[in-house]
Amino acid sequence: MTLPRVLVCDDKENYTKLFQRILPDDRFEVVTAGDGARALGLLAASEFDVIVTDIRMPGADGLTVLRQAHARDPDIEVILMTAYATVPAAVSAMREGAFDYLAKPFEPDEALLVVERAVERRRLRQQARDLRLALEGIHQIDKLVAKSPAMAPALALIQRAAAGDATVLLAGESGTGKEVAARAIHASGTRHDGRFVAVNCGAIPEALIESELFGHVKGSFTGAATDHRGLFEEAEAGTIFLDEISELPLAMQVKLNRVLQERAVRRVGASHEHPVDVRVIAATNRDLRAQVAAGHFREDLFYRLNVLPIVLPPLRERREDIPVLAAVFLERHGGGRPGRPQGFTAESLSALVRHDWPGNVRELENAVERALAVSDGRRIELEALPDEVAQTLRPRLTRSTEIHLTYREVVDLARDRASREYLIALMRELGGNVTEGARRAGMERESMHRLLKRYGVRSEEFKQRT
Ligand SMILES: Nc1ncnc2c1ncn2[C@@H]1O[C@H](COP(=O)(O)OP(=O)(O)OP(=O)(O)O)[C@@H](O)[C@H]1O
Ligand SMILES: [Mg+2]
Repeated sequence: MTLPRVLVCDDKENYTKLFQRILPDDRFEVVTAGDGARALGLLAASEFDVIVTDIRMPGADGLTVLRQAHARDPDIEVILMTAYATVPAAVSAMREGAFDYLAKPFEPDEALLVVERAVERRRLRQQARDLRLALEGIHQIDKLVAKSPAMAPALALIQRAAAGDATVLLAGESGTGKEVAARAIHASGTRHDGRFVAVNCGAIPEALIESELFGHVKGSFTGAATDHRGLFEEAEAGTIFLDEISELPLAMQVKLNRVLQERAVRRVGASHEHPVDVRVIAATNRDLRAQVAAGHFREDLFYRLNVLPIVLPPLRERREDIPVLAAVFLERHGGGRPGRPQGFTAESLSALVRHDWPGNVRELENAVERALAVSDGRRIELEALPDEVAQTLRPRLTRSTEIHLTYREVVDLARDRASREYLIALMRELGGNVTEGARRAGMERESMHRLLKRYGVRSEEFKQRT
């Protein structure tokens, strides 16, 4: 059984010290932060069960900490500490979902009791949720939730990966949850006490990648004023997540391959290597095999990474997940609380399920978040959803009115609808390649262009990101 983790934030040290004394270390794991910014950093990097935070702090105030905590995990219980002057703020925080508040000064016993109650409520809420999920056939590994049969192979592989130490290669379109899956493997595996270090290989300037990943020694290049640990060393005993691995320059691919082979890194400018104990998870939204074939990705590195390949299917191929994910995101972004929307109308839910989600789960999460921001009723209505999502219901709505049209008009309508759907599917399949599209459709390229224009389908939108 792991101990409940409690984060205590206060800029006054006597309060953080006080909690370290009040909460016995055989029953609680206490982590402290001396200002709001540090608290937010800790929150982003690890998991907590309960947060006790002062309202007024430099860096970020207690309310910001509360909101960030709930954005990460709606079941975190937050207790605010207030001086007399900030009691109204504490009261409004309660409305935003804080568990309770402690008015300073308070008795140690009182503080212990509140934290104990918060831990208990979190435990009960988690139990209730696990039970509900199990009853509904929903699987959850860390933050990753899924229900669809299409996700079953990926879930099984994620569990297998967590049980061992093999290198994992995650593939899937943008927004399908590759990072969520990587974190799930780390969090439910034997390395969860170590760090999870995420690196976006496409975002680091080429000249800096080597020293970022492997570190450097003082004086090894201009600007290297001190010794520097690389991200591989930071991830010691934990996991390194190499995101967008296809973006790694070829020269770095050679070096990475060597590190994976030797399980040792050499800092830039150093004369010796030293061993690292790190699990590697790489991710890509491109077809790495094709990159290898085209000479953009080294074959030896590909095989070294492709030990345990896991493919996350696009959301449009696992629509059963949509209602489940939508409910998770509703709660994550403030729904389900008093006075906020509790769910979706049947109509808006069916629009969510029908939409094709080119941006996958991320697009769904954004849509739900935006819908919440413009909704104040009990349920999220169709009108609150982005136009392109609400659109998916329109054809059906028109159908009931079609009997009022002439035969000619109905046929025209149907043809327009079918044309548009066909063109979208074609461009999606061919990544926006108009010439190839024309060939498949059996027409001249110019005619294809005319059609695309007429139906408002923009081929550029289907081009692969490079
Ligand atoms: N199965 C899931 N369960 C819960 N949340 C998910 C799931 N999949 C994705 N998400 C959410 O969707 C968003 C995008 O996921 P993530 O960042 O893992 O995608 P990605 O595949 O890494 O995308 P990209 O290739 O663009 O980096 C995240 O905010 C995450 O919370
Ligand atoms: Mg990602």
